[in-house]
Parts: sequence; structure tokens; C-alpha cells
Amino acid sequence: MSLIEKLKSDKPFLALAPLAGYTDVAFRCVVKELGADMTVSEMISSDALIQNSKKTLKMIKKAKNETPYIVQISGNKIDKIKEAVFILNDIDGIDGIDLNCGCPAKKVYHHGSGARLLEDLPKLEMMLSTIKKHSNKTYTSAKVRIGIEKKIGADIVNSCQNSGADFVAVHGRTKVGAYKSKVDYEQIAIMKELSRIPIIANGDITSYDIAKKVTNETKADGLMIGRGAVVAPWIFQQIKNNTQTIEKKQKKTIILNHLDSIIDIYGEYGVVLFRKYLHGYSKSYDGSAVFRQEVNKINSSKKMRHIVSQFF
Ligand SMILES: Cc1cc2nc3c(=O)[nH]c(=O)nc-3n(C[C@H](O)[C@H](O)[C@H](O)COP(=O)(O)O)c2cc1C
Repeated sequence: MSLIEKLKSDKPFLALAPLAGYTDVAFRCVVKELGADMTVSEMISSDALIQNSKKTLKMIKKAKNETPYIVQISGNKIDKIKEAVFILNDIDGIDGIDLNCGCPAKKVYHHGSGARLLEDLPKLEMMLSTIKKHSNKTYTSAKVRIGIEKKIGADIVNSCQNSGADFVAVHGRTKVGAYKSKVDYEQIAIMKELSRIPIIANGDITSYDIAKKVTNETKADGLMIGRGAVVAPWIFQQIKNNTQTIEKKQKKTIILNHLDSIIDIYGEYGVVLFRKYLHGYSKSYDGSAVFRQEVNKINSSKKMRHIVSQFF
């Protein structure tokens, strides 16, 4: 079944949101096993991709179980976006290219990329249609917010569908709303109502109950989960299985699998990278503050495995 058919028929369709610094190949591999239907790479700058930086190419690497796999690019110039698409065309295993139209970070916004594209919808439309025209991948998509300051979801969705994009993920905040303002699910519902292409709702989906509420309120074709997954990757399984519960024993297995996956990819340096996830995983446990201090000092995978096995 194609991704679009799945989006239209599978309820709930669940995607992992791209989170730079978190949703790397090791983490994506874990959530895929827990029921995520679609995964997206961390944001890849089209400029960096063109410069062929080794680090950037590494960021594109996907896990064996990652299908469909979408690579997200950012950029401020149409010719550079086109060049980046040509590079991705030569890399197998990518099912789609997504354009970042939501990043509010100063460095990205002032560069004219990310959320800045929402200020110039004809340019956003041209960028997406450039991807659609030149990409040899099956899907072209956009990840957007609902505006810069003013909520202009209807105009944004029109531009996306006019460009020929196959689907759109909507983070229901403006750029000014950053990551903390109340998510406007009503605006996502307006966009869904208007749209001929599937809409994926995103923002503050952190539990099975909220997932249900967002699906009901927005009628979106899919849900995209970011921070909620980084602290609890099992959220995909909970939503898929209509339950709030997760056995402690399974949590421990998932956390240890994540550790194995990160070590497999980065070697012993993976231990350092793993610390930030443990901060989230341990939050609801007694003694988590002391545990966090301890793991911050550990550099060996053997020691990390031991302390994690004991704590969870
Ligand atoms: C640390 C961090 C990194 C992020 N990186 C990206 C990114 O690379 N590309 C992107 O489109 N959005 C990025 N986002 C935004 C998320 O994908 C998502 O839209 C936002 O966090 C809201 O969803 P959530 O409440 O489920 O996390 C990032 C957010 C955070 C907090």
C-alpha cells in the first residue's frame, strides 16, 4: 500500500517528527519497531548537502526497517534546492523529500529558510514545485507552521497543494509561538477541511488521550509526534494499541535496545549521546535526579548498560 493510501485509510497513521539532535537513525530505528508508520530525517541544509559534507551525508543514513523514509531539506534559494534534490536522487532508499517551512531558529530564519518561507508563499510554492519536478522519489511534502504571527493556515495549505505536494505536516503554532504557545488544532482543522491532499497534525501530542482528541478535533489524516516520542518512544505502541499502559519490563527492553542501537552506530561515543535520552526516560522514576548526575559521568557502554539495567 502506498504512503498516501495508508494516510487515507490507516487510523491512526503515526509519523515521527524530525527533531534535530534527537531523531537520528538510532532513535528512528527504535520508534519504527514500536509502530511509527513514517519517519523523517533531521533537517538537512541544502547548502551543506551541496558542499557534500561527510557529516551531512551521514545524517541521511537510514535504518533497514525505515520505510517509508523521508529526508527533510531546508534552503532559501530555488537553484540550491534543485541541486540538493539532484544529490538525493542518487541516494537509494529515500521515499520522499520534505521541505522545512517551519523552523523558527534565528540562524535558519535569518538565512531565509525554515519558517521564513511562510512570509513569501509564492516562493514556498516554487520551492516545493521544484522538488516535485526534479525529484525521482515518490513523495514531495512540506512541514509547515500556521503562520509567522498571523494565522494564515488556509493560504499556506493552498500554496502547498498548488505546488503538487503529496501531503503536508502542520505544526499548529505560528513562528512567534515557538514551541510553547497553545497549539491551535482548530487552525489545523480548517486546513484539513480545505485540503485535497492529506494533512498530518503536529504539536503537543504526548499521550494516547491527546492523540484521540487531536484526531477528533482536526480530522487530520495522520498524527506527527516529536518531543512526546523523545521521552516516551513507546507512545506509538500505546496509540496503536488503544491503551495508556506500557509494562515496566518492556520499557526497560526498549531503553536497552536504544542503547544497543546507538552504540552500533556511533561506537563508544554513543554513550555520551545516549545521556540526553536517559534524562527523558527516567523522568517519572524515583531517584531520577541522582541517576541523571550519574549517567552524565559515564563513558563506557558496559557501565552504561549496567546502570541502565539496574535503574529501570
Ligand atoms: C529540539 C528540536 C529540534 C527540532 N528539529 C526540527 C527539524 O529538524 N525539522 C523540523 O521540521 N522540525 C523540527 N522541530 C519541530 C518538531 O518537528 C515539531 O514540529 C515540534 O516540536 C512540535 O511537535 P511536538 O510537540 O510533538 O514536539 C524541532 C523541535 C525541537 C524541540
